[in-house]
Amino acid sequence: MSDLLKLGVLISGSGSNLQSIIDHIEKGSLGARISIVVSNNPEAYGLTRAEKAGIPCAVLDHRTFAGREAFDRELIRVLKDAGADLIVLAGFMRILTGAFLQAFDQRIINIHPALLPAFPGTHVQQKALDYGVKFSGCTVHFVDEGVDTGPIIIQAVVPVLPGDTADTLASRILKEEHKIYPQAIRYFAEGRVVKNGRRVEISSVRSDDGAALHNPPLDR
Ligand code: GRF
Repeated sequence: MSDLLKLGVLISGSGSNLQSIIDHIEKGSLGARISIVVSNNPEAYGLTRAEKAGIPCAVLDHRTFAGREAFDRELIRVLKDAGADLIVLAGFMRILTGAFLQAFDQRIINIHPALLPAFPGTHVQQKALDYGVKFSGCTVHFVDEGVDTGPIIIQAVVPVLPGDTADTLASRILKEEHKIYPQAIRYFAEGRVVKNGRRVEISSVRSDDGAALHNPPLDR
């Protein structure tokens, strides 16, 4: 078990991305294990998912801390005690301090429900609809000091369809999140992530130079 990548997964809510990681691990398709799930929200449904899977959980309710620094100090302690190698933000709705970024330098990743650098921040499905883009998607990226600005590891492109609402678009995007987050973690588990400044290269990937998407589709 010791050669498995140890994940510390941070959540605030439903935890469907956490569930997808759990499912991939249980299928045996990820050389990783979750050593701890931490939630800042005691009501997060993701905690129930983790408990069902027998994964240790911690609740750090941010409202009970004096400030961001104190919260992050405890978060660092809990994650280090659990031996986490890679910190996986899965719907974690807190901004992390510089101290946290330093403690896990280059070892923190996040998933965001838009095609970064378009639409960072929150309510991004509605923003994508309002802007009128024909494609949105999701992005797994390294976490840096900005909001959703870190180097990009993998993205999935999702079409915006006529009649879409923020909810229908969000659920189409979420399906792809559940594919790309486990994939990104597998890249780390297999030691295939090479970061050169902003550019992240993944070793041994197939590349398809003819891949292009059109939305609406081209007339036949
Ligand atoms: C996802 O859309 C993720 O991209 C965003 O927050 C949502 C979390 O969903 N950061 P879940 O808690 O994993 O279901």
